[in-house]
Amino acid sequence: MELLIDDANVAEIQRIYEFYPIDGVTTNPSILAKSGRPPFEVLKEIRSILGTEPQLHVQAVAGDAEGMIEDAHCIVKELPGNTFVKIPAVPEGFKAIKQLTKEGIRTTATAIYTPLQGFLAAKSGASYAAPYINRIDNMGYDGIAVARTIHDIFQQNGLPTKLLAASFKNSQQVLELCRYGVGASTVAPAVIDGMVNNAAIDSAIRVFEADFRELTGQDSMSKL
Ligand code: G3P
Repeated sequence: MELLIDDANVAEIQRIYEFYPIDGVTTNPSILAKSGRPPFEVLKEIRSILGTEPQLHVQAVAGDAEGMIEDAHCIVKELPGNTFVKIPAVPEGFKAIKQLTKEGIRTTATAIYTPLQGFLAAKSGASYAAPYINRIDNMGYDGIAVARTIHDIFQQNGLPTKLLAASFKNSQQVLELCRYGVGASTVAPAVIDGMVNNAAIDSAIRVFEADFRELTGQDSMSKL
């Protein structure tokens, strides 16, 4: 499973990208709005932190297919590299995804709440399909089950689209999809930190350090 950062806070992206094995960054208009800064300024800073190889997913904001296609042209021109254009999985979006696929522009179908949205996005040619795990849970349905069903639909139908699960509130949700072998998950920095935020882990490491200091009077093998 690929692991991406779902955020547009440049300092946080830099920190997480330095320490964790990260495959890219996803954003959406709401995430960009939180930065309070010009979108392309923020996105270019994120691209420069990542370099050209890791993925950057940026959402089209127009409401119709023609506008989404124009947004997509603008996004890939302004942000060269391994960039994917997020397009909502609705009829205007499917039309845009089909056209962009013909043009060789890669897309991530987003705002997915149902398995058949994922199926239609994949048939339209999307590279990724992004179900919103926590938001589905909050509607009284099972977000993990929806994600698994979409993953199964792709596998059973030989569709090359990968699942890109989004909207996580805790690391347990990420674990369940990792165990299922989905294509990718995009996760907020706090939830990524939560994967290793554990007093038992910290305590074990402190004991190793103390035992080594007691044995050698040093805090590094390089000082022996
Ligand atoms: O891009 C979709 C994802 O970021 C939604 O996450 O936490 O706003 O439900 P959330």
